[in-house]
Amino acid sequence: MPTDNIHWHPVSVSREDREAGNRHKSALVWFTGLSGAGKSTVAHEVERRLHQRGCSTYVLDGDNVRHGLCVDLGFSALDRVENIRRVGEVGKLFVDAGLLVLTAFISPYREDRARVRTLFEPGRFIEVYCECPIAICEQRDVKGLYRKAREGLMQEFTGISAPYEIPQAPELVLNTGKQSIEECVSRVMRLLEERSILTADSAGPGSGPDVQ
Ligand code: ADX
Repeated sequence: MPTDNIHWHPVSVSREDREAGNRHKSALVWFTGLSGAGKSTVAHEVERRLHQRGCSTYVLDGDNVRHGLCVDLGFSALDRVENIRRVGEVGKLFVDAGLLVLTAFISPYREDRARVRTLFEPGRFIEVYCECPIAICEQRDVKGLYRKAREGLMQEFTGISAPYEIPQAPELVLNTGKQSIEECVSRVMRLLEERSILTADSAGPGSGPDVQ
């Protein structure tokens, strides 16, 4: 094992210490779904709303992370496994740092998402499935990738020539093909309130500091 000679150094400031200064618990909200399903749009809008309430947040977004941390990875099954492993570990560090983290990755494999879940205490990993029929994603084709995939210019494209495994027991299903962005965002915010991730003094509009 490569970690045989590496020991875990105890921390002097714990997650609980960091959380005590926040108006929310730290957690990871994991958005999964097809390309074009709306994961990033909803995640960034949820972050904007949380930030307005004075929460400490960060979005890890597939398209962005693949420009840096995961620039060496492609879209083969093995590379996707490694992509999600890295993002899970970074998410874990950020949650340890007291943040409310939102991730937007296709994360097509059930097993990979389940493995990330095991990195967190129960209740701190919240899987949100952005359910959108491929026909609608393809019709939107915001980045023109579905057209390229259909024309054979891109290989291993999720939903066309690579699999997407639908979550079996996500904490939330957003019907991003039908519901408005606003409705989807509100449902995520409600879930965070119901699960006491957002504490009472961050739960209402105007209750946070004046961060715009
Ligand atoms: S994941 O499968 O490993 O989770 P990730 O979310 O990081 O994927 O990246 C997906 C984004 O990369 C898509 O939104 C799309 O813009 C782009 N992309 C490029 N090639 C592919 C491909 N073959 N399959 C899916 N998405 C692709």
